[in-house]
Amino acid sequence: TGGVITYDPGYKNTGACESAITFLDGEKGILRYRGYAIEELAEKADFLEVAYLLIFGELPSREQLEKFHKDIREQSIVAEDMKKILDGFPSSAHPMGVLSSLTNALIAFNPSSVNVDSEEDMYRAIVKIMAKFPVLTAWAYRKRAGLPLDYGDDSLGYVENFLKMMFKKPHGEYAQNKIVVDALDKLLILHADHEQNCSTSTVRIVGSSHAGLFASLSAGINALWGPLHGGANQAVIEMLEAIKADDGDTKKYMAKAKDKEDPFRLMGFGHRVYKNFDPRAKIIKKAADSLLDDLGVEDTVLDIAKGLEKEALEDKYFVDRKLYPNVDFYSGIIYRAMGIPVEMFTPMFALGRLPGWIAQWREMRLRKEPIGRPRQIYIGETLRAFKDIDYR
Ligand code: SDX
Repeated sequence: TGGVITYDPGYKNTGACESAITFLDGEKGILRYRGYAIEELAEKADFLEVAYLLIFGELPSREQLEKFHKDIREQSIVAEDMKKILDGFPSSAHPMGVLSSLTNALIAFNPSSVNVDSEEDMYRAIVKIMAKFPVLTAWAYRKRAGLPLDYGDDSLGYVENFLKMMFKKPHGEYAQNKIVVDALDKLLILHADHEQNCSTSTVRIVGSSHAGLFASLSAGINALWGPLHGGANQAVIEMLEAIKADDGDTKKYMAKAKDKEDPFRLMGFGHRVYKNFDPRAKIIKKAADSLLDDLGVEDTVLDIAKGLEKEALEDKYFVDRKLYPNVDFYSGIIYRAMGIPVEMFTPMFALGRLPGWIAQWREMRLRKEPIGRPRQIYIGETLRAFKDIDYR
């Protein structure tokens, strides 16, 4: 109602939490971080600025942003013994499992990150994970690709340096492509927070036991891994590739998605909250078009995706159920064009969502919220007497 958000007093019994971080309106397709429209932030801000906004509540001044980045750079070294843990994984390990394990393992090397009651202690834990998570994400990729682990160059920007850590070959120069850096920066902004989604609720509830930031984030990474949540971006590309291999027969997959007997769902479609277009999907679809144009990349999978979207938006089953493309439907097209392998798509989602998870954890801790304890509606047996085993 004109920006004044009113609460239903009954919400306290729904397990809903109060939060001042992200506002979304699923019917109108509105998404705002700390009151700023996602469309403006994606156009005018950079990812580290948006991370600061989400975590601390205000867009940073130039000095605040420089200090935030300086504090992050100072924490970007990961304990060498962490490499031994990484070495223990088979190269076939899924990077999301590696990332949740390494994020948890960081606790052992940063014990002061656990009991953080003061804002200063929280800040120290926050810059540590903002610094080390991109390194671990790049290492998870390089481990799988059989490449030596690399720290990149911390004189570069946050996203620039991540790309260098990912793709710098052991020998020879690494040519930074500004088009790719800008596209990834925008994509990470669009993934940065999304109110009380599955993984964020996981971070808040684990954090509410005071298990510490890194343990809470590790739990959130596991929740995001699921194909119904962040894992959908990998499943979308696998689905589009299957359609491509099946002579582009989108009608066959639409029929499968509508068949209640078939567990197949149209990946990248539908949403728990958006019953209109996911505003992020609109921006990502445009960004995919312009990135592929700029890079001169032809990707038939993009054409298949557009064809599928057009068919679904004219199909009664999808229209009646208000199923629209979500954030995961086009993001994989962009990652592919950047040379990011499909098993790294969900880790990219996690890298984007990191500041949102941190912001939500910090808000919950600063508000001194009690330990999470969702209630249930009991639907089991009423009281009954014990039966001896010979009478069962
Ligand atoms: C993310 O919560 C967030 O904010 C998440 C996220 C974030 O930023 O954190 O936005 C990121 O997780 C996006 C969602 C990514 N997941 C997928 O793309 C997987 C495919 N989508 C679906 O599995 C599904 O749409 C969900 C999981 C996203 C939502 O599932 P729901 O809540 O069960 O969907 P619903 O209640 O709106 O379903 C209504 C009907 C059902 O059919 P009927 O029982 O009415 O006959 O629509 C059907 C569903 O079976 N349906 C689909 C469908 N999604 C819902 N049918 C075919 N294909 C689909 N994709």
